[in-house]
Amino acid sequence: MRAAVQHRYGPPSVLHVAEIERPLPGRGDVLVKVAAASVHPGDYFVMTGKPYVLRLVFGLRRPRHGIPGRDLAGVVAAVGRDVTGVRLGEKVFGWSSAGTLAEYACVPADHLVPVPPSLSVLEAAAVPTSALTALQALRDVASVRPAQTVLVTGASGGVGSFAVQIAKAFGAEVTGVCSTRNVHLVRSLGADHVIDYTRTDFTGTEKRYDVILDNVEAQPLAAVRRALTPTGTLIPNSGHGGRWLGPLGRIVKARVLSGFTRQRLRPFTSVEKYQDLLTLADLLATGQVTPVIDRSYPLDEAADALRYVGAGHTRGKVVVTL
Ligand SMILES: NC(=O)c1ccc[n+]([C@@H]2O[C@H](COP(=O)([O-])OP(=O)(O)OC[C@H]3O[C@@H](n4cnc5c(N)ncnc54)[C@H](OP(=O)(O)O)[C@@H]3O)[C@@H](O)[C@H]2O)c1
Repeated sequence: MRAAVQHRYGPPSVLHVAEIERPLPGRGDVLVKVAAASVHPGDYFVMTGKPYVLRLVFGLRRPRHGIPGRDLAGVVAAVGRDVTGVRLGEKVFGWSSAGTLAEYACVPADHLVPVPPSLSVLEAAAVPTSALTALQALRDVASVRPAQTVLVTGASGGVGSFAVQIAKAFGAEVTGVCSTRNVHLVRSLGADHVIDYTRTDFTGTEKRYDVILDNVEAQPLAAVRRALTPTGTLIPNSGHGGRWLGPLGRIVKARVLSGFTRQRLRPFTSVEKYQDLLTLADLLATGQVTPVIDRSYPLDEAADALRYVGAGHTRGKVVVTL
């Protein structure tokens, strides 16, 4: 099968398309013929091996799996002996830790759910990691309730475009922060208010929010906290930071500060849960959430897809088609 592979960490130019062995599903696995796979900043960090702390998980000297990508959508091509309830030919979406920028991927059966009929496989591929992060941040970390005020920075990006819609589905009053060119997009996602960050610094206004999901961290923690109500929740959710520890420094700072204030400062890491994928499938099926696709690239241009994601100006999601 054809796959994007990398034998060392580095910039997108380390990726090339090669012919490799098709994986064989284990007893609990589903073999998916991948139709589309989305890429996001996390895939970029893993490809480059920076921050270096990531290498403890993904391989010290070189990437362990060598195929980038985690999210996918496609068609069930084979199932392992122990798998039940999954039909051959069924359209599914989910994630695989063994790389998804490949014609086939082996995925544990509980990492996949059916694609809702209203969705294309391209749209479904855009969903897993970014939407899961938005869902868990707003529902589990911030416990967003109807009529609460929620501010989302990076509202035009992968996580932000889902977060605006999910916060609206929870009944919140949502403010999205984005650049001028994305104001219309963020409003179309359902945001009640849109702040153009090139004109207004949300930390410098009188307005206070119950929940802030900060996907960008363009301002220091102290400034963002000023825009939070006295008992509000701030989720610092950027993967950026120094080349050794990435966001770890800020995470530790937020955790320590949290002990000295009534404000809840809650950095978190999203966790891949089957039930949450089902919840997302429901939100998609009922039209409460619709993925925004910025660009799609063929597999031969996977390096360009990751280069684009790495530049940090994505509008919605970037998808690689197989
Ligand atoms: N906690 C977790 O488990 C978890 C999981 C997934 C992702 N993340 C992290 O979440 C962050 C966001 O990911 P993503 O996929 O949404 O990134 P993305 O798709 O690259 O989106 C970033 C968006 O932010 C906008 N932006 C840039 N500067 C801004 C500013 N000052 N104010 C408001 N918006 C600004 C960009 O558009 P313009 O430049 O055009 O304005 C772009 O649309 C990343 O750092 C990622 O590592 C965390």
